[in-house]
Amino acid sequence: MAIQHALAPHLFDSDSTLTQRLGILHERILNAIPSVDRIAVAIYDAADDKLKTFINSTRRGEAITSYEFKLSDSPSLYKLATSGEPRVIDEIQAVIKSNTLHSNWLLKQGYRSLFTLPIYDNGEFIGFIFFDSIVQAAFNQEVQRDLSLYASLINMSISNEFSAVRSIVASAKVARDFANLRDFETGTHLERMARYSRIIAKAVAPRHQLSDEFVEHVFLFAPLHDIGKIGIPDSVLLKPGPLDDSERLIMQSHVGKGCEIVQKILGDFAIQHLADSRIMLNIVKFHHEHLDGSGYPNGLSGNDIPMEARIVTVADIFDALTSKRPYKPVWTIQEACAELDKMVGAGKLDRNCVDAVLENSAEIERIQSRYQDYF
Ligand SMILES: [Fe+2]
Ligand SMILES: [Fe+2]
Repeated sequence: MAIQHALAPHLFDSDSTLTQRLGILHERILNAIPSVDRIAVAIYDAADDKLKTFINSTRRGEAITSYEFKLSDSPSLYKLATSGEPRVIDEIQAVIKSNTLHSNWLLKQGYRSLFTLPIYDNGEFIGFIFFDSIVQAAFNQEVQRDLSLYASLINMSISNEFSAVRSIVASAKVARDFANLRDFETGTHLERMARYSRIIAKAVAPRHQLSDEFVEHVFLFAPLHDIGKIGIPDSVLLKPGPLDDSERLIMQSHVGKGCEIVQKILGDFAIQHLADSRIMLNIVKFHHEHLDGSGYPNGLSGNDIPMEARIVTVADIFDALTSKRPYKPVWTIQEACAELDKMVGAGKLDRNCVDAVLENSAEIERIQSRYQDYF
């Protein structure tokens, strides 16, 4: 347990992202076990049965990012997840038979041995930690024992962050559910727009060097974008007709109110310094800003609007266009994209974010049919 104590301050230092903390840990591990060439964590999304790349520290070989597959499509990993047993592979070539992108990638990097551990949070399976080495049979019993300790540290660190995020989302959800009673926004809108945000974030990730960790946080925090609407009086929020100037100003104040709520939640959980909490705040603060400076509340333009906000803005508008609202019919994906394109042409929206919607229309259709409004 001495190891845990010595490492704890770094691993739990919430000023850095999980990726940064994993890098520090990897450096330390290399002092004792030089053959660990890569440490990676994939996380599991139970709603979609998807295992997704999340964080990695890769010393040899090229990192694999932005990759996901159904856990049920990998019988061997599925077995580990349900049994809780770690797995050691001493010579990869002898066991890999499948021709998946993942196994081809493993072989191409020259990794020869692997040590894989399923990780859990409160008994619930949340993903895997992978240790890879270019050395054959690098993971003997002694190394396994040491790495298991490090793995539990990584597990703890991720669980801590997840439970912080979950608490935030849960308390926001309580607030939101109250607001939902007032029926301004449906739960399915939030489900859909979070998933659209994830699609867009993934698509623009290479161009903007966004990590998988960033993409997952955008997905998690996107549903909070309008949290400030719980502070808007029903007379304005639920007004059936168009708003007059003073009502519009009241409505626009949902951004400022949302920021206050987020700051309060972050303060209550004492995690203002959590590196990724900035993503949450930026989504709430900037999701009505437009690139040409015509948005609100600050009229920011261009690069002053952070990527997470541009992504959520496009996802939010796209879902509004393709949803049934009392004042408009449902638009098709193509019609909505044409409208978004117009907004790109006018200089308001990020072109790459809008392109991502059009390029992923098949996946978007799947999301639409899975999360339908029933009214
Ligand atoms: Fe909003
Ligand atoms: Fe929205």
